[in-house]
Amino acid sequence: MKQLDYRRMAFYQIWIRSFADGNGDGIGDLYGVYNKLESIRNLGVDGIWFSPIYPSPNADYGYDIADYRNIHPEYGTLEQFQKVLHKAHELGLAVIMDLVVNHTSDEHPWFLESRKGKDNPYSDYYIWRDPKPSKKGLRPPNNWFSQFEGLAWEYDAGRGQYYLHVFAKKQPDLNMDNPRVREEVKDIMRFWLEMGVDGFREDVITYISKHEKLPDGIPFLPAINGLPFYKDGPNLMQYLREFRQVAKEYGAVQIGEAPMTPVKTALTYLCGEDRVLDMMIQFDTMMADCFMTEFVHRPFRLRKLKRAFSRWQYALAGKGWNALYLENHDHPRIISRYGSEKYWRESGTMLAACYLFQQGTPFIYQGQEIGMTNIRLDTIDKYIDIASIRAYHTYFTRQSPEKRIRRVHLSSRDSARTPVQWNDSPNAGFTAGTPWFHVNPNYRTVNAAAEEGDPDSILNFYRRCLALRKGSETLLWGAYREYQPWRGKVYLYERAYQGERILVICSFSHLPQLYRLPRGYDRTRAELLLCNYPQAPALGKLRPYEAQVYRFSN
Ligand code: GLC
Ligand code: CA
Repeated sequence: MKQLDYRRMAFYQIWIRSFADGNGDGIGDLYGVYNKLESIRNLGVDGIWFSPIYPSPNADYGYDIADYRNIHPEYGTLEQFQKVLHKAHELGLAVIMDLVVNHTSDEHPWFLESRKGKDNPYSDYYIWRDPKPSKKGLRPPNNWFSQFEGLAWEYDAGRGQYYLHVFAKKQPDLNMDNPRVREEVKDIMRFWLEMGVDGFREDVITYISKHEKLPDGIPFLPAINGLPFYKDGPNLMQYLREFRQVAKEYGAVQIGEAPMTPVKTALTYLCGEDRVLDMMIQFDTMMADCFMTEFVHRPFRLRKLKRAFSRWQYALAGKGWNALYLENHDHPRIISRYGSEKYWRESGTMLAACYLFQQGTPFIYQGQEIGMTNIRLDTIDKYIDIASIRAYHTYFTRQSPEKRIRRVHLSSRDSARTPVQWNDSPNAGFTAGTPWFHVNPNYRTVNAAAEEGDPDSILNFYRRCLALRKGSETLLWGAYREYQPWRGKVYLYERAYQGERILVICSFSHLPQLYRLPRGYDRTRAELLLCNYPQAPALGKLRPYEAQVYRFSN
């Protein structure tokens, strides 16, 4: 079947719980999504990626799945999903689902069976190992740490063995080396593809093949001890090829999430006709203000960000295709990180321009398009994300509670999981009931309704950017080139295609900046395409967080 032309598209990510509540119980749902489909379409995107909406005990808010073929009752029913899917398609929006198959919930029937013993049909669906003999009682099979809580092994007294969980205890890892598990994955894919969905975002898909011997890791950073033995593992290509076959039958698009996969390895998944993934969610561009994880915070460095941008742009040029993003449900809000809440509108719009015009398919996370910022809750008890709570109790424990909570503000996934701010009525118009999670108090100024009517708003700037990208062959296909990479406050890049060049110039500073056009550019031929200030720009000069986009044709 012919594949969806994802390269021309842009996607909008929905993390449903906080998107829009349609039935007044305080929890976002598919009724809310149904009502908002037009407004998503009006942003100028072409597809939606749903973070998991399946039944889940919510140990990791949907990423712990208890049933792959149904909808969480809090979010609606399969029937309601089909209505959403149908209407989305009518509006010209593709729909892709989150495929989370590195692990399930420990409440998934497979796991409930598996833990019963070594001789039932599901006993090899997960990664079970005997305890290591030790004088001090039971010891786990190796020294790996989980990314979310403590050691990566949990003892199950019933079965008398440990199971592996790279994430939370309630997220046991599937044993993908078992061919039956792979058949299950393919069946799940078929189930949704038969219903009409257009593809998958594949959760930590590069973790599914574990090193056969599960050797001890070298202790370094606790949360990632063991990572080299489960990331980009030995049989990954083979398994991805199998899944690719199914996707191909339906022309489905596949976007793989790949934390810490280096670009060289990424190329092996992303290139050529027999590629196993169409795009990859890399993490490099999320590291410009931290070390390995957002919880180890560092001051923002534009040069680091530019290096990451350019590394992926150059490496994939002519060979693969980039997924472009600055936000999703796993990272704090980008204005609060790489921009400035003080220069909220300016930096929110500049950040849009800095990534939407690179080569690739843009992803926009709910609320990003209206410039939502990090929430700052005053105590750790108000947080719900397992990773944030655990990090708070693990790192920097000798610092004062004030300092530690500030780290949480900067790093927590909850910073970006607050209800979407639709208008300035109570609870930001997210729900008529009591919202399940805190609403950011800035909703009176930061909200979709207010921005709708303001031509200079962040929302309308996103629309202009997306329309510009879509209508420009140069922005779609043109070669990317970065200029003046040494500059610490200015990002300057070119897209060139068939005699036309587009220059994107972005300031990451609250102070005025100057820049020179690169050699070979004739300033008299500059035609302004876009600027994020209402007053006309001056070539060569940048106001705080200004973005300018010019076309130069021969
Ligand atoms: C991915 C998801 C994240 C989840 C983790 C474990 O990184 O994006 O939200 O917690 O996988 O499933
Ligand atoms: Ca609801």
